[in-house]
Amino acid sequence: MRQKLVAGNWKMFGCRASVEQLLLDLAAQEYPANVGIAVFPNFLHLQQVSQNLLLQKKWNLGAQDCATELELGAFTGEVSAKQLADVNCSMVLVGHSERRILQFESDQVICRKFIAAQSAGLIPILCLGESLAEREAGKAEETVLTQLNAVLQEVGVGAFKHAIIAYEPVWAIGTGLTATPEQAQEIHGIIRGYLKQHDELIGQSVQILYGGSVKAANAAELFAMADIDGGLVGGASLNAEEFSAICRAAGN
Ligand code: PGA
Repeated sequence: MRQKLVAGNWKMFGCRASVEQLLLDLAAQEYPANVGIAVFPNFLHLQQVSQNLLLQKKWNLGAQDCATELELGAFTGEVSAKQLADVNCSMVLVGHSERRILQFESDQVICRKFIAAQSAGLIPILCLGESLAEREAGKAEETVLTQLNAVLQEVGVGAFKHAIIAYEPVWAIGTGLTATPEQAQEIHGIIRGYLKQHDELIGQSVQILYGGSVKAANAAELFAMADIDGGLVGGASLNAEEFSAICRAAGN
C-alpha cells in the first residue's frame, strides 16, 4: 500500500514575515496521521522553515531545485544538493515545467540534477508533463515517457526506489484548469505501467503525485484514482486552510 504524499511548492512567493505567518497558520490546522506532508519554500526560507516546529512533526522539507554539480565549488548562483541536505532538506524538485520552460532546462540537465540529489541522500521528485499543444496533438503519453526515459535510461529503474514522480500537465499549472481525474489517472497508469515493465515491484511502489491546480475542492476526486498517490500543490499550498484540507482529502 503506497502512502499518500501532499507536497506544497511555494515557488518564488513570500518574504520572512509572510513565511512566519504561513507557518503559524499551518500549525493551527489539523492533518491526518497517515499522509506524508512536504513543503518546498524557496532557498532563502529553507532554514526559517526548518527551524519551525511543524517539521519536528515529521514534515519533509524540500527545495525547488538543485545544481547539477554535487561537489561544492565555483558555481556562482547555484545551490548544491549537499548544501540542501545540510539545512535539513530531504527532498528536491527536479524538472519542474517552470524550469524546463523558463530556464531552458533540458532532459540531460534534469537527469544530472536527479543524480546529484540522490548522491546527497535527497529524494528527487521528478516532474513530468506535456504542454497543451502536445496534448492536443495526441502526444501527451509520448512526451511524458520521453521525459521519464531520459532519466530512466541513465540511472536505471533501481534509482526509482528512492524517487518520487509528479505528473504535472503544463496546461493545468496555475491556470485553474485541472486535468479531470480520468485524464490524470490515464497518464499516471501509463507511467506506472512503464516502470513496471522494467521492475514490477518498483513500478508498484513508486509514489506518483498529480500537480496542476489542485485545491480542496478537487483533491478528493483526484486522490481517489488508483494510481494517484497525492499532490504537488502550488497556489493552494500558500493558504493554510486550503493546504490542510487537501492533506485531509488525501487521508480519507
Ligand atoms: P498550481 O502549481 O497548483 O498552482 O497549479 C502546481 C505546481 O506548479 O507544482
